[in-house]
Amino acid sequence: MTLGIKIAIDGPAAAGKSTIAKITAEILGYTYIDTGAMYRALTHKALVRNINTNDGKELEALLEDTKIVLKPSASGQAVIVDGEDVTEDIRSQLVTANVSSVATHMGVRQLMVDKQRHLAEGAGVVMDGRDIGTAVLPDAELKIFMTASVEERAMRRHIEDEKRGFTTSLERLKTEIAERDRADSEREVSPLRQAEDAVLIDTTAMTIADVAEKISALAEKRMKL
Ligand code: DC
Repeated sequence: MTLGIKIAIDGPAAAGKSTIAKITAEILGYTYIDTGAMYRALTHKALVRNINTNDGKELEALLEDTKIVLKPSASGQAVIVDGEDVTEDIRSQLVTANVSSVATHMGVRQLMVDKQRHLAEGAGVVMDGRDIGTAVLPDAELKIFMTASVEERAMRRHIEDEKRGFTTSLERLKTEIAERDRADSEREVSPLRQAEDAVLIDTTAMTIADVAEKISALAEKRMKL
């Protein structure tokens, strides 16, 4: 029996990575791992404890003392930190505004990468984030770099927020997304960039079903190689 391949999906904020990764994992019967949720989980815990998100050493110590569990759930993936369900809390505006800063620290990233590699061991996985194809799983059999225009990404996030009962201004979302793109691409450690062997998919004019189908077809091909 084959254990399955590793699929890395990277790209800028709100490009639809999580939605697509979840669906692809379901189609293939693979484990889905949302690495952004792990950085968000640490950011949330740091904010609750009043820890400065610019202090890498403090954050590293905090992460060493934190248990993050990603559990499949009806709505996709539940995030449990030290036994507490923080799935909703980690999507707050405050966490979103601070997570890029937490993700810049080398020590934090090293610990996260260790945890992520461990989670990916021994089974078929679809992992999404910013540095999966370049740093976490450089040997992934399939790498996707997913992008979409800032306008389209802001609109998708706006609709998603409305469904969850939040009203967010489209202009503000555009500014926030562009700022997060900048911070994630310009940081020194593992910046967001397309791996040389990644397949670029611009989802601006594609439906979710089209993208999931395209990735599943690419995965089927890689499995046969
Ligand atoms: O995908 P997301 O919006 O939930 O990610 C939140 C932040 O975490 C993102 O702005 C950058 C950071 N991140 C990262 O640096 N590396 C990853 N593999 C995943 C996320």
